[in-house]
Amino acid sequence: MQYQANTLEHHWMPFTANRDFKAEPRLLVRAEGVHYWDHKGGQILDGSSGLFCCAAGHARPEIADAVARQLREMEYCPPFQLAHPAGFELARRIAGLTPEPINHVFFVNSGSEAVDTALKIAMAYHRARGEGQRQRYVSREKAYHGVNIGGTSLSGLMKNREAFGCVMPGVVHMRHTWLEENRFTRGQPQHGVELAEDLQRFVDNYGGSTIAACILEPIAGSCGILVPPKGYLERVREICDANGILLIFDEVICGFGRTGKAFASQSFNVTPDMMTVAKALTNGAQPMGAVAVKDEIYDTIIDTAPEGAIELFHGYTYSAHPAACAAGLASLDIYKKESLFERAAELSPYFLDAVFGLQDIDLITDIRGYGLIAGFDLAPSPAPGGRGIQVQKALFQAGLHIKFTGDTGIIAPPFIMEKKDIDRLTEILRKILSEV
Ligand SMILES: Cc1ncc(COP(=O)(O)O)c(C=O)c1O
Repeated sequence: MQYQANTLEHHWMPFTANRDFKAEPRLLVRAEGVHYWDHKGGQILDGSSGLFCCAAGHARPEIADAVARQLREMEYCPPFQLAHPAGFELARRIAGLTPEPINHVFFVNSGSEAVDTALKIAMAYHRARGEGQRQRYVSREKAYHGVNIGGTSLSGLMKNREAFGCVMPGVVHMRHTWLEENRFTRGQPQHGVELAEDLQRFVDNYGGSTIAACILEPIAGSCGILVPPKGYLERVREICDANGILLIFDEVICGFGRTGKAFASQSFNVTPDMMTVAKALTNGAQPMGAVAVKDEIYDTIIDTAPEGAIELFHGYTYSAHPAACAAGLASLDIYKKESLFERAAELSPYFLDAVFGLQDIDLITDIRGYGLIAGFDLAPSPAPGGRGIQVQKALFQAGLHIKFTGDTGIIAPPFIMEKKDIDRLTEILRKILSEV
């Protein structure tokens, strides 16, 4: 299908320099496998799975067919007091992948909604068990938890907060885990376990019984891939357990195989109480997110409500949308049939070798990576962020898409990439980073 984009004026683009983009647009018009094509016919290797979504590669016919079938059969089902079978089946399938005892799934439409929903579930849970005084949240510097009011309040990225006032009260931030002495560490860094003690300090300062939840990305993604220091997540878990604080892992990027297991919690052997997911849940083909919670949270909220009453006054018009459920089921089928999580694990050493092989490039000041995700920092010039956008554009011209946050590039290939694609990816990176 062809649309004529004769005017770019009316679409206010998100997280985009609108004036700059509209002066020199980069439009994607087609995708297949590990490639996009732009409006000038140029082929672009996708080094970031779109935006960490398309783990199984682009335009998978199995997903398109499943969505089309569902839309023809029943395009919409009201999700309050009614339901359709695919929602239950997808929840069952997700619960089959999450660690025990996380077995209950609440559907939303994005990662941001998943995060805000998780915050509300945490409050409802504590209230149901007579601890409604737990209203504080602990997040972390450099965190990205989406853009809704809750997620913005949790954000540890200054640019994502500074225009938006004080947003939600009661959020405190642990320090981030980037440390000079961990530069160029592949996998989990040796240094930094002591940074988990920031949570203990909040407990000591505010009282553990006032804190509802601590939310962390197991690998901080959008800020540029901060892999948790050895022992760090374990220590956070310990402090949460000792103080009745819920631990929420935001697995919106890590979830569905990115770390080589279904979820990062399994790669790092630390089980949270709740998980937020989105993105690869539908391979990016339909907007969908979810919050998965442990049995005790679900049982407490359900069992303490009066018989016959709605237990949680929360939900979206498009929760468990039939087309999104169809896309989710088809995606999980592909992941399983093609053993894509295992493939991600197998490809990881080759991928990390290739990316860490770039460390001799003068412009690169740090590289970090785990599984099939890696970040590299560029020396800023002239002002912070300037180099990042300059390099991102030059890479695109040279046929490679990767996501940038400021001067940090984030590489997260589709799991179906072959070694030759990884070679091509790092070849283009080396060429451009040596020229700019
Ligand atoms: C960890 C994390 N949480 C939440 C979000 C927000 O997801 P969405 O953009 O689907 O709202 C993102 C998006 O990148 C993310 O990386």
